[in-house]
Amino acid sequence: MKRRHFGVIALAAGAALALSACSSGAGGASGDSGSGPIKIGFSQVGAESGWRTANTKSLKEALASDNGFKLTFSDAQQKQENQISAIRSFITQGVDAIVFAPVVETGWDDVLKEAKDAEIPVILEDRSVDSDPSLYTSRVGDDFEKEGETAGKWVADNFAGKSANLVVLEGTTGSAAANDRTTGFNQAIKGTDVKVLDSQTGNFTRSEGKTVMEGFLQKYGKSINVLFAQNDDMGLGALDAIKAAGLTPGKDIQIVTIDGTKDGLTALADGQFNYVVECNPLLGDKVAEVVKAAVAGKKVDKLYLAKDEAFDQAAAEKALPTRPY
Ligand code: AHR
Repeated sequence: MKRRHFGVIALAAGAALALSACSSGAGGASGDSGSGPIKIGFSQVGAESGWRTANTKSLKEALASDNGFKLTFSDAQQKQENQISAIRSFITQGVDAIVFAPVVETGWDDVLKEAKDAEIPVILEDRSVDSDPSLYTSRVGDDFEKEGETAGKWVADNFAGKSANLVVLEGTTGSAAANDRTTGFNQAIKGTDVKVLDSQTGNFTRSEGKTVMEGFLQKYGKSINVLFAQNDDMGLGALDAIKAAGLTPGKDIQIVTIDGTKDGLTALADGQFNYVVECNPLLGDKVAEVVKAAVAGKKVDKLYLAKDEAFDQAAAEKALPTRPY
């Protein structure tokens, strides 16, 4: 397992409480007794982006039968109600553990309580929830606020002393990834001359990124000179809109995005993007490790964060030949 990319966030004193729940629920787990595979229900957000595709692949590979798991996968198509139904179905099936990537941050208390009452450990992967931490066992993900802050610092530094008229393509409304990236970015540009002309959701997809950027260009025209797209896909969609408006991406409008997929880094190496902050989607091995420990009743940390880098053009050129996703 490639554990070296992960740093452990120290547990707050009270946070360890949740782990006793997983140990009490672990006794009957088939994977624990060695009598059979660990039954996992995994509810994924959807297939909205290149990042998501890489994340799903990573989870499916790590939770495969040759690693001791029996995986039931459910694609929520970016709908919270689908995730809630999937989790309830996993509970009814009596899985040993539930893994899910919450599409939005709020509204999970009831279903998490149901899983807790059924003594099934729940591991959040990717995004977080605003529920009490005692309702889930652990989260394996990325530091979205830091990603937003890194993107904001780049804008602040790059446009210091120049006028920056910025538009933002936000991720899915209510998602932890969008909320935290916005917080970090706004913190980083606070007190600078960066002017936010507009900020709207593009739902983390290329098509909506393109449509929203078209609207920005119609409304603000050539006064836009910097775009913050909260993921690569929306930035890639925006490229089409920018070119169709007769402007040159990377020059007339400088672009910073988050994710660091092959497509995003290629646009950066080509000079169409200007800076990309990484969000590591390869969370599968860590999730598998945490699930195994939780099902075996071992203590796990409340939060595992992947290490994220940031890329300029030269770094993208260097990284691309071996970029795995
Ligand atoms: O939650 C992670 C975000 O979700 C990624 O940045 C984005 O591409 C995905 O859709």
